[in-house]
Amino acid sequence: MSEAILLVGGQGTRLRPLTSHIPKPLLPVAGVPFLTHQLARAAAAGVTRVILATSYLAELFEAEYGNGARLGLELEYVTEESALGTGGAIRNAARRLRSAPSDPVLVLNGDILSGVDIAALRAHHRLTGADVTLQLKRVGDPRAFGLVPTDEGGRVTAFLEKPQTPEEIITDQINAGCYVFTRSVIDRIPPDRVVSVERETFPELLATDAQVRGVVDDTYWLDLGTPAAFVQGSADLVRGRVTSPALPGPPGDALVLPGARVHPAAVLSGGTVVSPGAVIEEGAVVEGSVVMTGAHIAPGATVHASAVGRHAQVGPGTSLEATVVGDGAHVEEGNELPPGVRIACGARMAPYSVRLSAAPTPCATEHTAVRPTSGARGTARPATTA
Ligand code: GTP
Repeated sequence: MSEAILLVGGQGTRLRPLTSHIPKPLLPVAGVPFLTHQLARAAAAGVTRVILATSYLAELFEAEYGNGARLGLELEYVTEESALGTGGAIRNAARRLRSAPSDPVLVLNGDILSGVDIAALRAHHRLTGADVTLQLKRVGDPRAFGLVPTDEGGRVTAFLEKPQTPEEIITDQINAGCYVFTRSVIDRIPPDRVVSVERETFPELLATDAQVRGVVDDTYWLDLGTPAAFVQGSADLVRGRVTSPALPGPPGDALVLPGARVHPAAVLSGGTVVSPGAVIEEGAVVEGSVVMTGAHIAPGATVHASAVGRHAQVGPGTSLEATVVGDGAHVEEGNELPPGVRIACGARMAPYSVRLSAAPTPCATEHTAVRPTSGARGTARPATTA
């Protein structure tokens, strides 16, 4: 038996409002919940039993995967009443492990898309007799990550979380969120309290002279924690820039899932995904984006590097650039949104509310002043178009 713990309990605050109703690991990435890619990858590497460490919206995980048979895995769920942090979650989930004290246990963050060779990492761990082996990734700008310098033999020499000053940036190697622990090491993490594996467990292991090793991996790697990374990861999977055993079709420029409707005169590109029940109308251009279940993109709309939530609507001629549209939101006709805008779930943005270019018609013909509604003192509603 080969076991793994997957950390899937975080709130995914950086991805709000996409994570308001769906936990980050269950957001659709290249047509399936992101976690499906990770579970399929673990199964392909010989993992047979997975403990999912859940907390935020915990009940949705079991509803999605049940006992795991569909993926050829035995799945167990361990839910924290209040989030225990990464280390606390690993310790808590270990109650369900069946591995012997000297067995290797794979631990994965539930938001990393990577091409790492899991079986090779585990083999390296066994070969070196390490207590913990971390996958490391080289990045150009490591400031948002945990730095993990190693010596020539691959032993980790320090852990530095999110360095800010140039003196602190002593390596370009970062913690890639994929570890192999010798099981007995997990059992030494303090139980029933919040623990950060990055800030507490790993530094303490170094202080006690434990053997902590890093393996630099140069395959694809992306932390899907931000909206830009989320849409990019999905597009990269669709285009085959990173592979997954769970991809629901061959790589290509776009993935249109069964039950979606795309007008022949619409243009899809850049690894766009159109989910079941979504509609893309005539003349719409959708590039490098995720269009979720039941969403509607109206004629002539332009959607670039954006995520359009479930049953959200994008009006005629509206253009979105690196935008997140929450579930059920409606961005009506003629809006032009600059990069980085997030529309709340269920919100409605009136026609021509936000423009980067001049509105095609003068203001006075679009809206008259807001005035009180008759019979409802103190409330106001927009007047109808003149
Ligand atoms: P942000 O709020 O946007 O930072 O996202 P996050 O909540 O997912 O936090 P982060 O990206 O740092 O978490 C890395 C991984 O650990 C993710 O897969 C999380 O689901 C998971 N994780 C973080 N905190 C906890 C926790 O307290 N319990 C469990 N079970 N998992 C956690």
